[in-house]
Amino acid sequence: MTIREIGARGDGLGEHGGGRVYVPLTAPGDHVRVALGERRGDGRAATLVDVLEPGPARAAAPCRHFGVCGGCALQHLDDAAYGAWKHDQVATALGRAGLGDVPVRPVVRTPPASRRRATFAASRRGGACVFGFNERQSHRVTPVPGCLVVAPAILALLGPLETLMKAILPDGAEIDVGVAVLEGGVDLLLTGGAEPGLDARERLADFAEAQDIGRVSWRRSPAFAAEPVAARRPLVARFGGVAVPVRPGAFLQASAEGEEALVGLVKAGVGPAKRIADLFAGVGTFTFPLAAGASVHAVEGDSDAHADLKAAARTLSNVAAERRDLFTDPLTEGELGRFDAVVFDPPRAGARAQAARLAVSRVPTVVGVSCDPATFARDARALVDGGYRLEGVTPVDQFLWSPHIEVVGVFRRH
Ligand SMILES: C[S@@+](CC[C@H](N)C(=O)[O-])C[C@H]1O[C@@H](n2cnc3c(N)ncnc32)[C@H](O)[C@@H]1O
Repeated sequence: MTIREIGARGDGLGEHGGGRVYVPLTAPGDHVRVALGERRGDGRAATLVDVLEPGPARAAAPCRHFGVCGGCALQHLDDAAYGAWKHDQVATALGRAGLGDVPVRPVVRTPPASRRRATFAASRRGGACVFGFNERQSHRVTPVPGCLVVAPAILALLGPLETLMKAILPDGAEIDVGVAVLEGGVDLLLTGGAEPGLDARERLADFAEAQDIGRVSWRRSPAFAAEPVAARRPLVARFGGVAVPVRPGAFLQASAEGEEALVGLVKAGVGPAKRIADLFAGVGTFTFPLAAGASVHAVEGDSDAHADLKAAARTLSNVAAERRDLFTDPLTEGELGRFDAVVFDPPRAGARAQAARLAVSRVPTVVGVSCDPATFARDARALVDGGYRLEGVTPVDQFLWSPHIEVVGVFRRH
């Protein structure tokens, strides 16, 4: 079959027997032989058997792990086709919401080797211990010593981490290993498995010493608070010059370059506004840079993130922090009336309830940031139906070679 286009999850789309076929690792124009698999949505999944004739956009993947590793989905496209696909994802999502006339600006790109946080997997089965990323559509783990996406500080740790996992993981264990590069050092967060015993704790502390890791923690699952195993230095994230001491697992934008682009777009969007609400504020990525020229009310649902932001804002009279669930208890029209700009940056599910309240508010400027173009477009539709004009949307590609894309959109009241 011939691949016509690439779908939202990064798989090539072909046709067979009048139905859609989803074929990972294929490019538009590829003539391919595939093995048909199970039903998927409105069509069938398939695996690539052979590329009989490559399409014009097919390129050699730069990473030797591509195809096996589940981290990247789109290294087999040439750079122009890759950038155009990311742009199209945003335009298509807006089009589906009836916002096809909104200008989509050129994609802001971020470089390889810039990802400053990543979650790896480690597993031990009958003597064999593997550390790396999950394979494509699988729970199997594959080593990725040549990963082109993660920052050098993370790449340098992959070999030592593999050795460490071999030393501490008991048979049958499967854990996640979060690595984040913060100011003050690397933050290592192990999630899952049994609570580390004395021997494992000693090895983890020795590892922290030998690799100069800033902090090591363990938690049973993401629902549990992380317990410190080794805390060698205070770790902070710095936003707009303000140091925020953060807990293990705190949300950070994926790369410093991505964060800089998003902050720049958000600041340009709110313009001269003096009273700003930063909704879904996390630990303050936008709050503190915005506070350089305005008073900011930062609302966040997660108690740890809220507490970290609030502690960092202690000495700033123009930053207020509120903990609140914005899905069930969005800011009302009355509350929104205090602000001349609102920034919202929800998780993938979007901000449906808050967008409905914004739609009937009088806030002059709203800036939406999202890592999901589909829920962004849905929420944007609500604002436009409420009388806002969506001036334009800028895609920021901080999830290099993945199907994901971040967007920033600026809305003004007529
Ligand atoms: C994409 S992150 C953005 C964080 C921050 N704006 C940043 O750039 O670092 C989304 C944030 O929304 C928070 N969140 C998720 N669900 C929420 C809810 N129902 N109410 C309030 N905040 C929520 C998360 O804890 C997370 O901090």
